[in-house]
Amino acid sequence: MELLDARVLVTGGTSGIGASLVQSLTAAGARVVTCGRDAERGAALAARHPDVTVLRSDLSEAGAPRRVVEDAAAALDGLDVVVNNAAVQVHDSYVAPSPGIDLRIAHELAVNLRAPLEITAAALPLLSRSDRGALVFVTSGLAVFPKKTAPVYCATKAALRTFATAVRYQVADEAPSVRVIDVVLPLVDTPMTAGRGDDAGKRSPDDVAARIVRVLGGSGQTVRIGKARILPVFERMAPSVGRRILRKG
Ligand SMILES: NC(=O)c1ccc[n+]([C@@H]2O[C@H](COP(=O)([O-])OP(=O)(O)OC[C@H]3O[C@@H](n4cnc5c(N)ncnc54)[C@H](OP(=O)(O)O)[C@@H]3O)[C@@H](O)[C@H]2O)c1
Repeated sequence: MELLDARVLVTGGTSGIGASLVQSLTAAGARVVTCGRDAERGAALAARHPDVTVLRSDLSEAGAPRRVVEDAAAALDGLDVVVNNAAVQVHDSYVAPSPGIDLRIAHELAVNLRAPLEITAAALPLLSRSDRGALVFVTSGLAVFPKKTAPVYCATKAALRTFATAVRYQVADEAPSVRVIDVVLPLVDTPMTAGRGDDAGKRSPDDVAARIVRVLGGSGQTVRIGKARILPVFERMAPSVGRRILRKG
């Protein structure tokens, strides 16, 4: 796919992989709209990329995901690509839950799962009008082998991959020009993983973003990056080893 002048919405562009994606996409000539909650980081991003529209939006709020799609489509006069990137990762014990856990569950479900579903419902009719439509879901190796400390995060990523597969069936029949891509990531060095895992083993967000941009230019549907490429081997040959390695997170 040619990205020059492509009209792209990336959610969660104010930090980590999303910020690197904004950088890589604009370098490839795409016109980009992104969103996030943090006003300061949003202003810094807009200053670095004066051509990028940064929407201040909390995707956990009712109606916000559809509004983001509508505002992005209005700013870009349509949409060619949507990257569902924004997410949060919450660590909770379910054996000894701390106060407020129900609110944290609702918030994590809303950002990681409900928002991409609603964004898909709002965006797919627009993407199907494009001759280079692509709908991307940023998922994780933890969708395959979950880690102990973040059960809801892992469950939302697994649900997102299943949703992507079902939507891909719909698109194949009714909007064949749209590609539905799920990107399975390994551990990446971003604020989400600060203080978690072994820093030396983390991929850089710039590398990962550059790879996602190359994926948009190619033809794959399920794309595994870095160490996530080995997951299907563990799934087939040694699932207990995969479970043991990833459960620690
Ligand atoms: N880092 C990893 O190792 C890793 C591995 C596998 C998959 N992933 C996935 O990669 C994606 C990006 O993660 P990251 O590591 O780059 O995380 P990050 O640095 O924490 O960035 C998350 C982004 O999501 C936005 N966001 C969070 N809650 C939001 C809300 N309620 N409304 C709007 N935007 C919201 C944040 O913006 P504000 O804070 O400004 O709202 C931020 O821009 C996520 O889907 C994550 O699950 C990451």
